[in-house]
Amino acid sequence: MPRNHRSGKQKSPYLFICLAVVLLIAMAVFGARALNTWNVYKTEAAVTPVPSPTVRPVSVTPAPDLPTATPAPTPTPAVFSVGSSGDEVRKLQERLKALGYYTGNTDGIYGGGTKQAVIIFQKQHGLDADGAAGPKTLAVLYSDNAQQIVVTPAPTGLNTLAGDIPLLVNKWNVLPDDFVPGDLVTVKDLAGDLLLYDDEKFQGVRTAVEALIDLIRAAEADGVTPWKLGGAYRTIADQKKIFDRRVERYISEESLTRAQAISRTRLTVADPGASEHHTGLAFDLNVPGAYFVDTAQYVWLKKHCWDYGFIMRYTDEKEDITGIIGEEWHIRYVGLEHAKKIQELDLCLEEYVELLKKQ
Ligand code: DAL
Ligand code: ZN
Repeated sequence: MPRNHRSGKQKSPYLFICLAVVLLIAMAVFGARALNTWNVYKTEAAVTPVPSPTVRPVSVTPAPDLPTATPAPTPTPAVFSVGSSGDEVRKLQERLKALGYYTGNTDGIYGGGTKQAVIIFQKQHGLDADGAAGPKTLAVLYSDNAQQIVVTPAPTGLNTLAGDIPLLVNKWNVLPDDFVPGDLVTVKDLAGDLLLYDDEKFQGVRTAVEALIDLIRAAEADGVTPWKLGGAYRTIADQKKIFDRRVERYISEESLTRAQAISRTRLTVADPGASEHHTGLAFDLNVPGAYFVDTAQYVWLKKHCWDYGFIMRYTDEKEDITGIIGEEWHIRYVGLEHAKKIQELDLCLEEYVELLKKQ
């Protein structure tokens, strides 16, 4: 029994050993397969790209004020003036030179010479003469309306301001065909609605226009109003038209011969080149709807025009000397000093100029 018992005891470890061996074999087989599966997974994981998340394409529009890689070109200044420089200034100088306003170097530097040239150009084209080339000046300068320079001979008339002999223009003292006074301004630009105008484009020499404005203001302050400007600066071509029209009228309306019509016209209209209106210093004043000599304006003007540097240029009494019959509406600027002497001495301009020449 003990043997059986011993035999029973001996069988049991053997069985356990067998089971352990089987288990070990099974584990070895399973472990190898599991290891193989892991290696395959690892390899596949390494070569299969991980799918990337879906990214919607976005079109990126740069905000307009974001700085860009390319620097913005330097903007062209709106106004060129002393101190400006560069190609645009050189171009400006070349244009002014081609038109005869600029005689200096086209060096692209806006200095005093360029400024002076711009001022002359601006004056000749009715622009603000500030010597700076802004958009308005540049537009005219580069347009087909840009004119060649008009060389203005220093009109002796302007020297009345300096006390020289006033400019005398009459049948015997005729201006050259190309005469153009300096410093012409449009009367309405300075006087506005102070006056009525036969033509709103009437011009005159600035100093004379300013004196006219003072005169009209003084008259208005005295209650003498309204005033209408019937004549001012005229070119020689303007005068020729007026003269020829008058001749034709005398021929057609009064049946005069041409020679008679011309003689008659010369009493009231100066020959082209012989009119004071070419100087820009003479003005014709009217009163709408009235004959001037019958008005309070005439009475006032005769008494006060001298105080503003004007003379009554043509009177009936002096017709033999002036060659023109009385024109009470025609005043001529000679400056205060001369006007006062002419009034005091009761001379016409021809007599006064003779007197000065003798002194
Ligand atoms: N009526 C003046 C004289 C002129 O024509 O100038
Ligand atoms: Zn006149």
